[in-house]
Amino acid sequence: MNHSTVKIAPSVLSADFGRLGEQVTEAARAGADYLHLDVMDGHFVPNITMGPVVVEGIRAASDLPLNVHLMIDRPERYIADFVKAGADHIILHSESCLHLHRAIHQVKEAGLQAGVAINPSTPLASLEEVLCYVDIALIGTVNPGFSGQRMIPETLDKVSRLRNLLSERGYPAAVQVDGGINPDTAPDAVRAGATILVAGAAVFNRTESVDAAMRRLRRSIEGVEPG
Ligand code: DX5
Ligand code: ZN
Repeated sequence: MNHSTVKIAPSVLSADFGRLGEQVTEAARAGADYLHLDVMDGHFVPNITMGPVVVEGIRAASDLPLNVHLMIDRPERYIADFVKAGADHIILHSESCLHLHRAIHQVKEAGLQAGVAINPSTPLASLEEVLCYVDIALIGTVNPGFSGQRMIPETLDKVSRLRNLLSERGYPAAVQVDGGINPDTAPDAVRAGATILVAGAAVFNRTESVDAAMRRLRRSIEGVEPG
């Protein structure tokens, strides 16, 4: 694998919601591979963000694959709504989804890519039994809820262990990292084995254009040997 196979998924949580359509267009022009959409319900995480209606609006504004991260209690209740809204990937947290196996299959039967996610304090073992079914395994590199937090460096060890487990078993899932990814932390995340990098504040910020920010992020992982 080479670095060009690492995908970048800007998180619109850091975007200017007053001009969301323009911001997603800027991300697409800057070479974003996916758009990462953080759905939060104020229960599973201490923040409330967007629901299916916003996902539907973004769907209409962009052709990029929508990588939808459900940080909500009992996410299985809303899978059909996010499918209808135009999601391409639906990522479920193991902590909030009791029947994870069933929910993953609900996503796959709808023809979408299914992902599973874990928080920094959740052991990798909680994903082990479903890794063979998923397209994406997401390691939370911050405690979920907000953009702009610092990456918890110890989570990268979990990324490496996940990468090894996938290789040992021959499972094809992509390894996604989410939280605190920027040009300083991205190289270590890629070395640990990440193949999809979510970036919120590092892409949408007030100090540089989306295009310049994306170029800086891409440049930071050029020549980095993937794990
Ligand atoms: C955290 C969210 C992330 C967040 C990432 O709860 O799941 O997707 O938007 O933002 P940054 O890259 O700024 O940490
Ligand atoms: Zn996220």
